[in-house]
Amino acid sequence: MKVTVHRKAHFNAAHRLYNKNWNMDKNDEVFGKCNNPHYHGHNYELVTSVTGEIDPVTGYVIDMKVLKDLIKEEVEDKLDHKNLNEQVKEFQNLNPTAENIAVVIWNKLRNKLDQKLDLEVTLYETPRNFVTYKGE
Ligand code: NI
Repeated sequence: MKVTVHRKAHFNAAHRLYNKNWNMDKNDEVFGKCNNPHYHGHNYELVTSVTGEIDPVTGYVIDMKVLKDLIKEEVEDKLDHKNLNEQVKEFQNLNPTAENIAVVIWNKLRNKLDQKLDLEVTLYETPRNFVTYKGE
């Protein structure tokens, strides 16, 4: 019997979407306003979902305090109020789209989670646009 627990988190960050191998016109054509060279911000909402067996001793899949602290250390402390392109090493050569941010977050959390637990992240870039990644 497997149960999934979910934890919500939040961070604000700035980014610019562009391909450095293209000129400004081509970048504008593909990325529109997101290619603004002065950057723009989003209020990102993250849902971290952990699936596993219920521990018969604790009754938990994972201690939510442990999960909360992990998200704070690996995601919030590293991304909140940052310029993703300029200040986060994973995006030095990776476009900080919601898709790529979700993969980066998943990798950070996966490294710290017990291997017997399954992980999925859902990242909202706006209330209507969101992506999911579960390591496939
Ligand atoms: Ni954007």
